[in-house]
Amino acid sequence: MRNILLTAIAAFGLVGCVGGISSEGGDPLDSPDGDGNDNGDNPAGSDLSAAKALYDTTVHSIMNAKCSGGACHSENATGATLTRFVALDAAKGWQTATNYTALVGNFAASAAPILTKVKAGGIAGHQGKTYTPDEETKITAWLNKEVELRNGQVAPPPNQPPGVETLSQATERVLSEFAGCMTKTDFDAANMAQAWGGMQAQNNQECDNCHANGGEGFVASRLSTQFWNIFSVKKYYFLQYMTVDLTQGAAAAKVVINTTSFRGVATAQDPHREHPTFNPTNNQGMNALNTFYNTTMAKKTAGTCGAPRPLQN
Ligand code: HEC
Repeated sequence: MRNILLTAIAAFGLVGCVGGISSEGGDPLDSPDGDGNDNGDNPAGSDLSAAKALYDTTVHSIMNAKCSGGACHSENATGATLTRFVALDAAKGWQTATNYTALVGNFAASAAPILTKVKAGGIAGHQGKTYTPDEETKITAWLNKEVELRNGQVAPPPNQPPGVETLSQATERVLSEFAGCMTKTDFDAANMAQAWGGMQAQNNQECDNCHANGGEGFVASRLSTQFWNIFSVKKYYFLQYMTVDLTQGAAAAKVVINTTSFRGVATAQDPHREHPTFNPTNNQGMNALNTFYNTTMAKKTAGTCGAPRPLQN
């Protein structure tokens, strides 16, 4: 039923309602790190229960109050918004939320859309929503815990001397540096637009049937300029393709290809159960992305990049 509905979206080239994400299946928290999947989003292999506890006690209620609702991000929403990250069952709230790259990015407070999309200075007034300073503090504290645990990094002492870079600041720095190295010429030479826009998922559905304009938190278009103007400018979209490796600490932070975001949807893991499936690692899109990444990194190594350019929240 759900896949039929998704197929209809592809066939008509519009995004309408699909059924809510149901919750049948095994114990959602049944995975080594407790988040219900093995998608590479916890490279340090840490026990994430301390982060989950923070989400459960301080963040889920904020999400429930601000982002849920039938027209918005509730898991049983019926509107056009298909990133449905607010679970009805609070016990599954954390698992559902953390498996949307569109929501959490790499978990750094400087890059996680859960914060950057809504907070002051983000894309102005996402649906007229704002966080109070207290809510922002709670979301930030939770994200900091996720980023530390998932990367095996110890929290900096509360009174650390100024000037010591945090994981969040390192994320912002390396993303800006990488963006300064990217060029449209390299993007086209790597064939990014044809490779991703025209890539097929099951039932001959192509990525740009649903994602040409950045719908559902991901952009893939055969129109190179359209694709580039979103991918290379907006952090939110860029982070579906790339992420930041923080496992060696802030000083050694580095942009890497994001396989987590693709693994979730490609293998229809919870909560992406309705997504058309495809091979997450071996495909034409990943080949193009590897080429683009390698060319860009080679410039960084050679020191031939442009000035760092912050990606927009
Ligand atoms: C039939 C429509 C459809 C097609 C075709 C499709 N998608 Fe999606 N995609 C969606 C919807 C709906 C969502 C939002 C719900 C979700 O995240 O599962 C989404 C979300 C995503 C996300 C965001 C996941 C996250 O964690 O935020 C990625 C990445 C993605 N798709 C990649 C792809 C790729 C790559 C292709 C082509 C191989 C593709 N999609 C083809 C409908 C589609």
